Amino acid sequence: MTALPAVPPPADLLTALGLSTGVPLLLRGEDEQRELGRRLALLLPPGSLVFLEGELGAGKTTLAQGLAVGLGFSGLVSSPTYALMHGYPTPQGTLLHADAYRTRHVQELYEMDLERLISEARLSLIEWGEAFYDDFPAALLLRLSHLDGQPETRQLLRAR
Ligand SMILES: Nc1ncnc2c1ncn2[C@@H]1O[C@H](COP(=O)(O)OP(=O)(O)O)[C@@H](O)[C@H]1O
Ligand SMILES: [Mg+2]
Repeated sequence: MTALPAVPPPADLLTALGLSTGVPLLLRGEDEQRELGRRLALLLPPGSLVFLEGELGAGKTTLAQGLAVGLGFSGLVSSPTYALMHGYPTPQGTLLHADAYRTRHVQELYEMDLERLISEARLSLIEWGEAFYDDFPAALLLRLSHLDGQPETRQLLRAR
């Protein structure tokens, strides 16, 4: 297959947001989580892909909501688990939100024309997308997690 990844935003812009590779960022409360998403969306060029990792409750959907707000979309963004893929019409173009968790074979999403959808979208987010990491080397990978004893905080790590 031939993935056509968008160029990622310059490292210094990501660093200014607190998103240096391998340096964990603490987000205190869902408002901070959303705000980080909003500011990140402003940096991402059209056709960008972001992989989201994190256990249930780690803040993936909250971050996605913030990214949507950054693209000017004020509607509700929900977990895509049961739909596999959601497309939100933002003023800047489509926000694609996919969940590969229930995808038995990588091929299933490719058969849904994943590459074209990504390249034509303003921004694509894929949860549980490990099987696609190698195919989209330019995509950001954000790893969200809970912190022991700190229910009001989440950790965000840009793994690449
Ligand atoms: N940075 C954060 N600090 C504290 N709570 C957060 C943070 N981000 C999200 N939350 C809260 O955690 C819960 C789960 O968030 P959600 O985005 O639905 O997680 P996921 O999609 O990963 O399952 C929500 O109640 C949300 O408000
Ligand atoms: Mg979710």
